[in-house]
Amino acid sequence: MRFIPFAMSLGFLIWVSPVQADSTLTEKHGCSSCHRFSAEASKEPAKTPDLFYAGNKFQKPWLEKFLQSPVVVRKVGTSTDPDFLKQPLTSTPPHPSLTEKEALAMADYLMSLTLPDLSQGTVDDVPLTKGTRVRVKILFERNYGCIACHEGINLAGQARGGISGPSLANAGNRLAADWVFHWLKTPKKFIAKGRMPYFNLDDESAVKLTKYILSLKVGDWK
Ligand code: HEC
Ligand code: HEC
Repeated sequence: MRFIPFAMSLGFLIWVSPVQADSTLTEKHGCSSCHRFSAEASKEPAKTPDLFYAGNKFQKPWLEKFLQSPVVVRKVGTSTDPDFLKQPLTSTPPHPSLTEKEALAMADYLMSLTLPDLSQGTVDDVPLTKGTRVRVKILFERNYGCIACHEGINLAGQARGGISGPSLANAGNRLAADWVFHWLKTPKKFIAKGRMPYFNLDDESAVKLTKYILSLKVGDWK
């Protein structure tokens, strides 16, 4: 914990504890014992999600909510080791949770963790038209089979799909559009070697899939 000397006028020190918005926060809460906060450390497969690009990846309101009341995103474990399926499947243990004040400060800190060379604005805010969305849904479910590993949303608004990859059922409230685009085009910027197949998508298909993923929302988030 850091303290700043505030005033010495009464002949003694009054110590003021500032809202911490730096890496001491993650040490204080033990986050660094599970998560990696630097790109250099990420050459080995991850046992838990890496957070060194959290500011690129997440929508801040989702982080603020998750840190207070965590949800399970990866139902069968979090390792990115390609030999994952040869290992026994484990269920994800409950995530530590923070108070509201701590969560807001932590979300500020996490949003400051960005990679220097990621272009922004690749995906505009214009949603897919109804017709295009139907075609992209077919790409997501049939042509590329993303749904085999990822949960999406069915017509009744419920999560549906495979669980060997992170759930995308609430991706529209959770992930940042630019990050999803970069993940689909150049996953190596984030992960040395993962379990998701590389699809070699052209820019147009990657933008469309990104917009489709960003349209997936569940619960009272809308
Ligand atoms: C005991 C290990 C452990 C500790 C300690 C821990 N986490 Fe996590 N964290 C995980 C696991 C495992 C997941 C993945 C959960 C899931 O996908 O269902 C996760 C997920 C996350 C996510 C979402 C990442 C994503 O890509 O979906 C964030 C953000 C996060 N943790 C932040 C933190 C912060 C901040 C702290 C410190 C307060 C912390 N974690 C402490 C294990 C841990
Ligand atoms: C064989 C299973 C598999 C298929 C098929 C697959 N993925 Fe993935 N995906 C994963 C896994 C596993 C991860 C987690 C990172 C890793 O280990 O590579 C992931 C990560 C992601 C993420 C980041 C999610 C997060 O929260 O970190 C997105 C977005 C994504 N995939 C989209 C897609 C799209 C779009 C398709 C189809 C074009 C697709 N995936 C096909 C397994 C798959």
